[in-house]
Amino acid sequence: MARAQEYISLSGTGAALAELAARAHRPGRRRLIGVAGVPGAGKSTFAVALARAIGPAAVQVPMDGFHLADVELERLGRRDRKGAPDTFDAYGYASLLSRIQARPSHVVYAPGFERDLEQPIAASLPVGPEPEVVVTEGNYLLLDQPGWREARACLDEVWYVETDDEVRSQRLVERHIRFGKSPDEAAVWVQAVDSENARLVEKTRLRADLRIDLSAFQL
Ligand SMILES: Nc1ncnc2c1ncn2[C@@H]1O[C@H](COP(=O)(O)OP(=O)(O)O)[C@@H](O)[C@H]1O
Ligand SMILES: [Mg+2]
Repeated sequence: MARAQEYISLSGTGAALAELAARAHRPGRRRLIGVAGVPGAGKSTFAVALARAIGPAAVQVPMDGFHLADVELERLGRRDRKGAPDTFDAYGYASLLSRIQARPSHVVYAPGFERDLEQPIAASLPVGPEPEVVVTEGNYLLLDQPGWREARACLDEVWYVETDDEVRSQRLVERHIRFGKSPDEAAVWVQAVDSENARLVEKTRLRADLRIDLSAFQL
């Protein structure tokens, strides 16, 4: 029988976060920690808090940097469902994680994601040889599909974060509005695009090493 899945609830930024930081960081080794979850679950927010709790030994590399550029999405006819698994360069992500895992003596550059442009920007994030913990977060880290499987294989642990669904949807709509969508466009996008991706991601949660409830997590 499969072992029981670990599950914790993170409230506040105190002891529990420090414990997670200690779990992520084994001094002397480089470890890659993945943070997965549905859109708006709080992955990016949590990853920042975790990296801060770990300190200078941590660096962040977002899966979002592997969004295909709009010009390629247009060519493929997938622009209207940007954010779905096949609108990312999954193999590129896996390849970058593998290079980072190898911990070469030179800098490995990772792409960032520019939210105002909603496009990836190459070579935005330097990962030097020093950082021991690399925190990477995104929707599809636990997806059992080609490319994503290879990415998962580079990660020492993947944690799945979740937030009460009503709170999450509301935050997601607000985030879309903050980055330029009208309230109607935002609501439609969350219903049509984000929720379909969310259903796919939700099914992967049992593959996580640890599940973290962020519903009571205070910024
Ligand atoms: N604990 C929290 N309290 C208040 N707002 C939060 C909290 N966590 C996340 N948010 C907000 O909710 C939205 C979604 O969080 P984010 O970390 O961007 O999710 P994800 O990266 O999983 O899509 C963001 O606008 C973020 O600022
Ligand atoms: Mg995010």
